Amino acid sequence: MQIRHLMNPLDFTTKELDDLFDLANDIEKCPAKYAHACEGRKLASCFYEPSTRTRLSFESAMLGLGGQVLGFSDAACSSASKGESVSDTIRVISCFADICAMRHPKEGAPMVAAGKSTIPVINAGDGGHQHPTQTLTDLLTIRSLKGRLGSFTIGLCGDLKFGRTVHSLINALVRYPNIHFIFISPPELKVPDYITDMLREKEIAYDEVIRLEECMPDLDLLYMTRVQRERFFNEEDYVRLKDFYILNKTKLALAKDDMLILHPLPRVNEISVEVDEDPRAVYFKQVQYGVYVRMALILTLLGITVS
Ligand code: NCD
Repeated sequence: MQIRHLMNPLDFTTKELDDLFDLANDIEKCPAKYAHACEGRKLASCFYEPSTRTRLSFESAMLGLGGQVLGFSDAACSSASKGESVSDTIRVISCFADICAMRHPKEGAPMVAAGKSTIPVINAGDGGHQHPTQTLTDLLTIRSLKGRLGSFTIGLCGDLKFGRTVHSLINALVRYPNIHFIFISPPELKVPDYITDMLREKEIAYDEVIRLEECMPDLDLLYMTRVQRERFFNEEDYVRLKDFYILNKTKLALAKDDMLILHPLPRVNEISVEVDEDPRAVYFKQVQYGVYVRMALILTLLGITVS
């Protein structure tokens, strides 16, 4: 069997994504049915960059399937600190595990690893580039709570320049019909040109605004993001921009009653805690969907079916 990796949400067709989301929803409904599906299998979680949610979500997903996990959560604890290349590391990991989730600060590193791997490799975030399993989480959350993927206006707000979750999500959403994108950011943190060029080429509608209040009444979905401090070149710019957006009850009063607020987390200041109790705030539910979708992904990449 050919090994299948996940580097980019576009590696799956929309039909394959639908099947994956159906499986994730079935896992949500009947977790017991899947509790032993990965018995005897191991997931290596190789995190060269900090993470709480993604790493633990992968580990929780594998444990929920009856499998086991091994790995490292800091490049300093791996042989990368001795100068080992990701290509060599993955050849070694391939002897220890059946599937690998890899996060790396360098764009393309998981792709390089996949080229040398004999086990499926999942890109768990590569620099400012892509974060496909966060996108699967976002799509599953939208599909499960809105009942559809497509025919909505989505506002993406915050650090659209460095936020890889935003880049991955836009990439994935362009395949669904009637989506209107509104990019809400300060001029310094605008979405990269390669993304707006791609949207223009595909004739997909988008607007760019600076103030959140300006577009709030139009939104069906609001995707908030934090300012990515670790990707800034200087602290001064970060300090100037970090509190540019703070979603609070007053701003939320302008929104539709059924608008959903998503956030990949971690949150810093961009959503005031007073918003957490609002039924439209679904970012903690989104974390739970992240576990179901990673369970579905592990089963799919390992070719395991449960009847
Ligand atoms: C995101 C990431 O790592 O890009 N977090 C996550 O995986 N849920 C978002 C972020 O760090 O801001």
